[in-house]
Amino acid sequence: MTDFPSFLASCAKDTEHALDLLLTRADIAHERLLQAMRYSTLNGGKRVRPALLIATAEAFGADRQSTLRPACAMEMIHVYSLIHDDLPAMDNDDLRRGKPTCHRAFDEATAILAGDALQALAFKVIAESKNFSAEHRLQMVSVLAAASGAEGMIAGQSIDLASVGQPLSIAQLESMHLYKTGALIEASVVLGAICAGKDNPETISALRSFARCIGLAFQVKDDILDVEADTATLGKQQGADAALNKPTYVSLLGLDGAKHKCRQLLELAKSELDLLVDADTSVLKALSDYIVSRGN
Ligand code: IPE
Ligand code: IPE
Ligand code: MG
Ligand code: MG
Ligand code: MG
Repeated sequence: MTDFPSFLASCAKDTEHALDLLLTRADIAHERLLQAMRYSTLNGGKRVRPALLIATAEAFGADRQSTLRPACAMEMIHVYSLIHDDLPAMDNDDLRRGKPTCHRAFDEATAILAGDALQALAFKVIAESKNFSAEHRLQMVSVLAAASGAEGMIAGQSIDLASVGQPLSIAQLESMHLYKTGALIEASVVLGAICAGKDNPETISALRSFARCIGLAFQVKDDILDVEADTATLGKQQGADAALNKPTYVSLLGLDGAKHKCRQLLELAKSELDLLVDADTSVLKALSDYIVSRGN
């Protein structure tokens, strides 16, 4: 690695190139669906989950090329979650990554289908990752399925929608955030370890502890940015949480309390990384700093 901004930019570039190759007419049999999937995927996201996956794999010495299919699968699941999150039945947002949301640019039914198709494609991409043994592919599919479904991200989204206007406790809010955002962040890190052949329980357990801290911090920071940043910088509507009466770390703890929580989680995350004696975790530490200091 030269420096962290170059690392992040190279992860985004490599992932986007691989996504471009995976989202083709050969695999997507209807033109409008293809356009919607490409519109929502190839549009300048930060690619934090691919970067986490790649940084974890590289911390254990894996080569970049082999990580790209799992990194694309992670991003596809994430993009699908964003398309559905923005739908009128969920957060009803008009702006995503600086452009009209998928259902605004296309239509609601197409947005639902584009999300569905990205989800299925993610699992196909992993199942057909020829760089890995059948056992490792199966492990990855299992980790990704658990993190994206009803014991992971979808549970969080379900709790989120049921919590509108509800007075949640900090423990309930933390649990919601760990599901809706933490689960995919955790899966990114675990998939990275599996890419490097590091599937022993001690390593996976230390990485999961790290990722839970950084996953929670990621959503706390998202809540802070929703209040502090402007719409142009965010690329999504500022103030959306308050407008929808969503419980957030800021609504419960105030801005200072939320920022303090972020700093605490960052320190905890780094201390978990220090337990990984056989890895070079410097990039993962820099990525953790970025997650709590980012401007969008
Ligand atoms: C936004 O995720 C949704 C959350 C889980 C908070 P990101 O902030 O990673 O969004 P992109 O991918 O960069 O657009
Ligand atoms: C999104 O949380 C979580 C998922 C998409 C799974 P938010 O609803 O806070 O995300 P943004 O702020 O719309 O990106
Ligand atoms: Mg939401
Ligand atoms: Mg939202
Ligand atoms: Mg948000």
